[in-house]
Amino acid sequence: MNFAIIGKNIKNSLSPRMHKWIYNSLGLDHYYKAIDINLNNVDNIVNKLKEGALNGINVTIPFKRDFTDYLDGLDEISTYIGAINCIHSHNGLLRGYNTDYYGFKRLLSCNNIELNDKEILVLGAGGASRAICGYLANNNLSFSIFNRTHSNALSIIEQIDYNEKVNIVSNAISNIDYDIIINCLPLSVDIFEQLQSIGYNFKLLDYYLDINYHINTQIDNRIKAQVAIDGLDMLIYQGIQSNEIWLQKSLEQKIDCHKLRNHLLES
Ligand code: ATR
Repeated sequence: MNFAIIGKNIKNSLSPRMHKWIYNSLGLDHYYKAIDINLNNVDNIVNKLKEGALNGINVTIPFKRDFTDYLDGLDEISTYIGAINCIHSHNGLLRGYNTDYYGFKRLLSCNNIELNDKEILVLGAGGASRAICGYLANNNLSFSIFNRTHSNALSIIEQIDYNEKVNIVSNAISNIDYDIIINCLPLSVDIFEQLQSIGYNFKLLDYYLDINYHINTQIDNRIKAQVAIDGLDMLIYQGIQSNEIWLQKSLEQKIDCHKLRNHLLES
């Protein structure tokens, strides 16, 4: 079967390397490639899915919300958060899923991160942020969101219908000592500048989590944290769940995630 990641400027994506490793390790004869597209190519990808030339795709920046109108159905999590990152084509029908949610959940569990009673700040209000905010809300946690476009942060809160325990940060940030920052902004954004602009106090964090995974270059050493974790685990577990959806079977127990992680770190 044929799978792909769809996005813009994704030539450095680790996804093809990861999925190829997964298929090799499981002895499966499937293909996975990166397809760089513009907004006006969305139709073309949708047709390939409907015809079965592509059996499933992952969707990344900036298309996580653009495919939604073309789908025949959504799973429970993507309906809840209003964003998909995975599509499965089955008998010509397209169904959307969000596997970032599970990826984030597993990133927390495999790094023994406990979020209860922590002051949490989420940076960004794009597709990945939706999955993470949805996870936090589903677990009844309080958190703040900072995003340059206030209305996009507001739209997440409205979507997940979670008003009481969420605060949208503007310039009052310096009043709160955050314990955890979860960065959902793209690599290209200078997080230090963003935080400085809103008066962040750069207190030592318990955890700095970043959904981006170009390790070493990404985690910003101007932001002090006892533990800094990048998005590699989130990438791995969202990828495994994507395959479970496409191949319609459980795979996680059969995949050596430690070996896969090392393989990705070698790239
Ligand atoms: P993803 O699906 O990975 O979350 P995305 O949906 O494109 O990616 O979301 C990008 C996020 O980065 C958004 O929160 C966006 O802010 P806006 O809601 O204001 O568009 C934020 N972002 C992108 N470029 C930015 C920049 N140059 N400065 C600050 N924020 C930026």
